[in-house]
Amino acid sequence: MSDPIGSTTAPEIETETDHDQDAVSDAGTTEPETSDPTIASVSDPVVEARDLTVHYDDVQALQPVSMGIPDGEVTAIIGPSGCGKSTFLRCINRMNDLVDAANVDGEMLFEDKNIYDEDVDPVALRRKIGMVFQKPNPFPKSIYDNVAYGLKVRGDTDNLDERVEEALKRAALWEEVSDQLDKSGLDLSGGQQQRLCIARAIATDPEVILMDEPASALDPVATSQIEDLIAELAEDYSVVVVTHNMQQAARISDKTAVFLTGGKLVEFDNTQKIFENPDHQRVEDYITGKFG
Ligand SMILES: Nc1ncnc2c1ncn2[C@@H]1O[C@H](COP(=O)(O)OP(=O)(O)O)[C@@H](O)[C@H]1O
Ligand SMILES: [Mg+2]
Repeated sequence: MSDPIGSTTAPEIETETDHDQDAVSDAGTTEPETSDPTIASVSDPVVEARDLTVHYDDVQALQPVSMGIPDGEVTAIIGPSGCGKSTFLRCINRMNDLVDAANVDGEMLFEDKNIYDEDVDPVALRRKIGMVFQKPNPFPKSIYDNVAYGLKVRGDTDNLDERVEEALKRAALWEEVSDQLDKSGLDLSGGQQQRLCIARAIATDPEVILMDEPASALDPVATSQIEDLIAELAEDYSVVVVTHNMQQAARISDKTAVFLTGGKLVEFDNTQKIFENPDHQRVEDYITGKFG
């Protein structure tokens, strides 16, 4: 566990925080919080949160969350702005370590180990649980070097050309860039940059890929390419996607977790159930656009 860097989260990557956005209120819809929407519905989760809470200084951003992330599926996390979606996502690979004010309590299990244990190397963890952000953030390097970065940094350079090609193919970018691998990643279009970031995350062979609104900065064509890609990625990886686009969540995910104002996970179930017949009135109100 002595790797100096996580391939998908090099220091120059900025974390996404939406703390300047106003929380949307769903006030007026009080309902007794009875059912626990959580772990029970997922057998053999790849990642499992247990009573996970987050405070930013003394402000609680997440109420205790317990949920399993299903293996080999796409899990969508939806909810109004400010409800803690990004906060939760960042807990899954300890990106909140990079946010000074953030304080995480509870457990996040990955491969039967709490990733918040002292002996866990967050950098090595982030190679297994990679992340893609809202705003594509390629390094100011060639396309090739963007993808090869994590492998080179840990001296893992056998068959590098083939592995770069493979990652670009899996990210559905190879055909567009195969003859220009020396070109700067920054010269690609937004959608291509995002697929490059996905290729960079894939290159080190992660188990889980976290995506925080990966298409919200993209045009409709690029968005649809990313959505198609997410479906393909789920054949090899477990994917967790934060989105505030409910149609997108309905299109691309197998399961959906709904967070509502106050940082509370209100319901987590099969996507079809969430969108057609949710258990909670507040979820139905949110899905049908009554607020948020
Ligand atoms: N770095 C931060 N410092 C302080 N508060 C933050 C920070 N990041 C997020 N928050 C607050 O935590 C809450 C949840 O934010 P976030 O997880 O970004 O929500 P979402 O992604 O659902 O929009 C919000 O009230 C937000 O203002
Ligand atoms: Mg967010």
